[in-house]
Amino acid sequence: MKNNYNKTYESYVKRLEERLEVECKLRFAANSSVGKAAHYSLMAGGKRVRGVLVLAFCDLLGGNSEAAEGFGAAIEMLHCYSLIHDDLPCMDNADTRRGKPSCHKKFSEATALLAGDALLTAAFEVLACSAISADQQAEACRCLACAAGGRGMVYGQELDLAFEHKQPTEEDLVRIHNHKTGDLIHAAGLLGVNSAVHTPKDLAEASAYTRAIGLVFQIVDDVLDCTASQEELGKPTGSDAAAGKLTFATIHGVDAAMERAERLTEEACQRLSLAYGEKADFLVTFARSLVVRKK
Ligand code: IPE
Ligand code: IPE
Ligand code: MG
Ligand code: MG
Ligand code: MG
Repeated sequence: MKNNYNKTYESYVKRLEERLEVECKLRFAANSSVGKAAHYSLMAGGKRVRGVLVLAFCDLLGGNSEAAEGFGAAIEMLHCYSLIHDDLPCMDNADTRRGKPSCHKKFSEATALLAGDALLTAAFEVLACSAISADQQAEACRCLACAAGGRGMVYGQELDLAFEHKQPTEEDLVRIHNHKTGDLIHAAGLLGVNSAVHTPKDLAEASAYTRAIGLVFQIVDDVLDCTASQEELGKPTGSDAAAGKLTFATIHGVDAAMERAERLTEEACQRLSLAYGEKADFLVTFARSLVVRKK
């Protein structure tokens, strides 16, 4: 069972990374430093959580796997842009990412800024070129734009910075997490569903599951910032406390944060299993693995 899960996860990552290589060649000019920087950050590893979610929801519903690969590549490109910009000195000022120098450290600040811009833009080009109907391409573009923009991830990043050295209420904290991290994870589920013939119930199930694991994902990220080593994590640790960021882990403590993460995950898994039975097994194991992850 676990063996099957690992095989499926690895095959999803392989398909995504092959597609990402192809998209880099298509979307960035040869010999461009910005293209090289985008490729460097994009192919530096990463768990590919968002891309895997797209492919897993596609498979759950028997969708169009070629289109889902494009959707998965697009959301990983957009996610990578958010990381490059998140690491810039004017944001979190982080020197490492994915176990390597962050983009602006390896290249320059200007190149990293432009590499982020190029990845963000290319993500929509990939969606608009995917092997699916024009209606589904448009819906995918709308869905990702809505999750990534000024009412989504970007808004979450704005709130995250605004709450440095300020005590967020419980409600503020959930709102920041839901936007800065949850919105893209939510979009990943919806893109997967959109690659298949689906019902409103499929959208509602994907929504409930990804909303829960999106919140959990940031809770665990904040716990790892307090508990993991920099070598394990591949990015700086202790950075939230140093920047005066209050998180579930720093406010309530690591144990209470993890209990909450586990409870939310189990509720989400039960609901998905109830809706899809054994077909949901991959996504159930996936959600649980995100709680116990070490990086
Ligand atoms: C890190 O995301 C940023 C957050 C939203 C917490 P990931 O932990 O998914 O980063 P990669 O893609 O695996 O490097
Ligand atoms: C980042 O949150 C969320 C993004 C939109 C990139 P963090 O700032 O906690 O992510 P890490 O810890 O640097 O990966
Ligand atoms: Mg940040
Ligand atoms: Mg950061
Ligand atoms: Mg973090």
